[in-house]
Amino acid sequence: MLITSSGRFNQENISVIKDIARRYNLDYIERKKQSISHLMERYNDDILVVGNDLSIHLKDEKEVIKYHPNIAMVRAKRVINQQSDAFLEACQLKARMSFLDCTAGLGADSLIASIVLGSSGTITALENNFKLYLLLQEGLQNYQSHNDKINEAMRRVEVVHTDHTAYLKKLEDNSVDVVYFDPMFTMELEESIGIRPIKSIAKTGLNDEAIIEAKRVARKKVVLKDDFRSQRFSYFGFRQIIRKSSKFHFGVIDIDL
Ligand SMILES: C[S@@+](CC[C@H](N)C(=O)[O-])C[C@H]1O[C@@H](n2cnc3c(N)ncnc32)[C@H](O)[C@@H]1O
Repeated sequence: MLITSSGRFNQENISVIKDIARRYNLDYIERKKQSISHLMERYNDDILVVGNDLSIHLKDEKEVIKYHPNIAMVRAKRVINQQSDAFLEACQLKARMSFLDCTAGLGADSLIASIVLGSSGTITALENNFKLYLLLQEGLQNYQSHNDKINEAMRRVEVVHTDHTAYLKKLEDNSVDVVYFDPMFTMELEESIGIRPIKSIAKTGLNDEAIIEAKRVARKKVVLKDDFRSQRFSYFGFRQIIRKSSKFHFGVIDIDL
């Protein structure tokens, strides 16, 4: 993957792009008024583009993908105003707890968890797709919303580029309060606008080993978000929480009964 600047780029910011290139081991290429399509054709690779506001977007053959908290902002404001959130009800998160998001995506659920856990809790978000990992990591560290609480919550999420089964295997028994999975939906969901941009590149699926490891690592709960018709709830032994008006449901395995 390569990295370059937007067309009219402030030269003073070049050192920032070079720093991103160094941190993620990417090749920096000078833009020199070339179009992104031209660069993609020339180098036959995906191109990360850094704008003058230092936001990053990725251009691959199919999509332009950029970090944006999207619907998470609406949810975040509701949670700050003490309104209910189905994800939080399923996870039963409280301050000082630890939360492991095994399928980070664009980090919406991790952000909501981070708001509730506050500075006394720990939130780790795992993403095995390198492109998404990079966009999420940089986005969570640099995105500026108008709400300080939300900005602080973003900065507290630790993002790790890894496969969740491999990561879980290295953790001790009962070492994380809540382990969470939101694998790619197996069926089309009209409501899932927030995940549409990443659908083309993200990996799907959930295997038995991941759930066995999650049950070993979790102290309180393993939680699964999935399509309401998903067979994964019963297959893995999750208690499915029925939400009549929603096409996605949460399933819970209680460890601390
Ligand atoms: C539906 S998205 C998650 C959306 C996320 N909950 C949010 O709020 O933005 C699922 C993500 O899990 C990632 N993923 C799938 N399998 C994984 C694995 N084995 N390890 C780590 N990440 C994985 C995919 O790349 C994708 O980005």
